[in-house]
Amino acid sequence: MNQTVIILDFGAQYAEVIARKVRECNVYCEVLSWRTPLETIIAKKPIGIILSGGPNSVYATDAPTISKQIFDLNIPVLGICYGMQLMMQLLGGKVIPAQDNLSREYGKTITNFRNQCLLFKGLPAKSVTWMSHGDVVEAIPNSFKVSAYTSRCPYAGVYDEVRHFYGMQFHPEVEHTKHGKEMIRKFLLDICHATGDWSMKDFLVTTVERLKMEIGEERVLLALSGGVDSTVAAVVLSKAIKERLICIYINHGLMRKNETEEIKERYKQLNLNVHYVDASKEFLKALAGVEEPEQKRRIIGNMFIESFVGKAKEFGGVSYLAQGTIYPDVIESGSINGNLIKSHHNVGGLPSKMPFKRIIEPLAILFKDEVRKLGLELGLHEDFVYRQPFPGPGLAVRIIGAITEEKIAIVQEADAILREVIKKRHWNMKISQYFAVLSNMKSVGVMGDSRSYHYTIAIRAVSTSDFMTANYVKLPYSILDEISRRIVNEVRNVNRVVYDITSKPPATIEYE
Ligand code: XMP
Repeated sequence: MNQTVIILDFGAQYAEVIARKVRECNVYCEVLSWRTPLETIIAKKPIGIILSGGPNSVYATDAPTISKQIFDLNIPVLGICYGMQLMMQLLGGKVIPAQDNLSREYGKTITNFRNQCLLFKGLPAKSVTWMSHGDVVEAIPNSFKVSAYTSRCPYAGVYDEVRHFYGMQFHPEVEHTKHGKEMIRKFLLDICHATGDWSMKDFLVTTVERLKMEIGEERVLLALSGGVDSTVAAVVLSKAIKERLICIYINHGLMRKNETEEIKERYKQLNLNVHYVDASKEFLKALAGVEEPEQKRRIIGNMFIESFVGKAKEFGGVSYLAQGTIYPDVIESGSINGNLIKSHHNVGGLPSKMPFKRIIEPLAILFKDEVRKLGLELGLHEDFVYRQPFPGPGLAVRIIGAITEEKIAIVQEADAILREVIKKRHWNMKISQYFAVLSNMKSVGVMGDSRSYHYTIAIRAVSTSDFMTANYVKLPYSILDEISRRIVNEVRNVNRVVYDITSKPPATIEYE
């Protein structure tokens, strides 16, 4: 039986980020809504409870809250931001709106720690934390002591060591808090006495068991893209329901050079039950003349659904639709904070148009690096598991402006050269994502003795851990030189190569 930590979510934008930090400490956790009845929480026999942040004020009417009895269970509690303020209010302290701009804190803040508190033991007495609060704790309950403070916030950290209650006004889960992960680890290992031996193998076992229960004897349809996420999702599902998983691979004709053939070979080795649909002509027709990026994405999303529904109908009697959605897709598609950056076609949209009971997303709480760990656990080859991501709409978002067969061929050839050189020079494992983009720009060049008027290829190479922010990679000039020479020599209709030195933000990784 796993030791479980419960994270109660009060509407934090990134409660899953707390969960990920807990998993990084090799402790199993579940994120539950603050509305979860106390009995459900007790039934899970948690060894610790974390109260997340949230956008509300604890003193507002209808603010999310929890039963006060949670503090009588003899279970350690860590309150973060809103979670700490709620704990203070419920246990007899007082929270008020910040009276002036000075007591509000947003961003990196120098914080002083008292290391008598177990959470901060052995850590520096002063370090940077990340704050984001408009309310402040004015008075703490009698049994609590102060464990951290800033120049503006006297109660940046509080604790009741007898009852094992801890509060942090700052966010230990974000990277900007210098020692945040160590603080979370201390809560889990030293205060909740977690053994810290949970791993992705346990995730696999529990996920397979859960899927078996949820799906029963029904059949599930899954769209495979050839990428790590959908492949890992398919292998996990096939462990749970065997041949009742039906996979469909739709070739939209916007894949990299030779990719569809390689994908077919891989699925054969994985023994997945895959049906192939070649819809490349239809996609190209629907995209003819379309220049606007979101319109391209919408068309591809819709076409994808159409081909998928068409194929799904042939099967009949399929109850569930499965997808390899991962957590960053959920965030960027605005499902959490309503702020669309790009519509990832694997989030939302599909279920309402399709006759399925429900959508199943076995990886929806995982981050990319966690999916990779899971892939290795499943025995997938390292080359594939560490394959760089490739967007669902494929080369359509790497060809600026209208798409034609000629442009697809150009970007495929240029990209193949780029990948070959990067691999040969052993840079493939140092870069998170690298690809060629066909800019819509033509310019004058000279080839042999004649004037040319051809396209410009842009090279993009970025490093990132979460794909939500990224830095451009400082590739050595000798590599850029080889890539540039080979592309202009070997790819027809290209006479110029440029290197993109923009990070994300302000740019995104893909061009459209
Ligand atoms: P951006 O361009 O948003 O990309 O900085 C972040 C990461 O997401 C990938 N990406 C997609 N993946 N469907 C996907 O499955 C999509 O529509 C999509 N758009 C971007 C991109 O390649 C990068 O890894």
